[in-house]
Amino acid sequence: MKVLVTGGVGYIGSHTCVELLNAGYEVVVADDLRNSKEEALNRVEKITGKRPYFYKEDVCDKKAMERIFSEHKIDVIIHFAGYKAVGESVAQPVKYYRNNLNSTLVLLDCMEKYDVKTLIFSSSATVYGMPDSNPITEDESLKPINPYGRTKYMGELIIRDFMDAHPEKSAVLLRYFNPVGAHESGILGEDTPDTPNNLMPYIEKVVAGKFPHLRVFGNDYDTPDGTGVRDYIHVVDLAKGHLAAITYAMEHTGTECINLGTGTGYSVLDIVHAFESASGVPVPYIITQRRPGDAATCYSNPSKAKELLGWQAKENIEDMCRSAYNWTKKNPDGYGE
Ligand code: UFG
Repeated sequence: MKVLVTGGVGYIGSHTCVELLNAGYEVVVADDLRNSKEEALNRVEKITGKRPYFYKEDVCDKKAMERIFSEHKIDVIIHFAGYKAVGESVAQPVKYYRNNLNSTLVLLDCMEKYDVKTLIFSSSATVYGMPDSNPITEDESLKPINPYGRTKYMGELIIRDFMDAHPEKSAVLLRYFNPVGAHESGILGEDTPDTPNNLMPYIEKVVAGKFPHLRVFGNDYDTPDGTGVRDYIHVVDLAKGHLAAITYAMEHTGTECINLGTGTGYSVLDIVHAFESASGVPVPYIITQRRPGDAATCYSNPSKAKELLGWQAKENIEDMCRSAYNWTKKNPDGYGE
């Protein structure tokens, strides 16, 4: 069985390639490397002993995608490729809509033309915006609060309409909570920008001595310690969720949206302390103002994934921090230049 992984060189994509290759799938990667480094594929090969077919192409380039589909009989598409920085999406919304929506449209055209039955879409808990209540189930109202979140929301709607028009096909929309951690080998992980936006990579840079301290964005939220609460999920658990989604989608038609989270919320300070105990290294921090647009609390009800996919996250917060530290210690500059 052949799987096209768009964005397969990125953080979640590369970890998913490892799981797919280990499970015996053939993998074709389409990624133009604008936010990733080909070295990640060398690492995937080191871990699995296999190298995915690789096309350095923009998923919005329809001709390039058609070439892939005519050279390979693709059974399943996993669509990761996309922009994902919330702040940048506010500053440059058209760039986000153009890229994240066009790539999805091109893939849907290809599904039609090349008779591909199954699509797994990389959505996000960001589609829930500021949730009315926690834990969040899939029938929570969808009201994303920034352009990035709206590209995921619109992507979901477009895919649903497409699947309604093609009742023999199937799609699973996976809504990720907060992916963190790295492969246990310590050679595959998140290659982040010099100044990361997200909590765990920022902590990693503090521990690596690149920043003097973490800024904790607010300690006056209505949460147990006043800092923001999120559902952190190990990236390898998340990757395995995609394999479970493929199995489900091959046996069903229509569209399902499914949360991938652990169901447990941890505060920023919980993560700081878990990282300190996993690494043995202190994580200095200061409390600063709230970051605009942040919810106080956001964690999943993961029951639907368990029920439909038979999937459940296994790794705990210590495993996540330990693997993140192992990665950052061995690769202080990520994949380098
Ligand atoms: N935080 C800090 N300091 C930092 C970075 C983050 O205190 O330097 C706090 C945030 O305020 C928040 C928590 O750590 O309370 C998590 O923040 P992240 O930026 O790591 O993650 P978010 O929950 O804001 O967003 C992430 C992804 C989004 C995705 C969302 C899904 O960045 O793309 O999870 O829930 F949509």
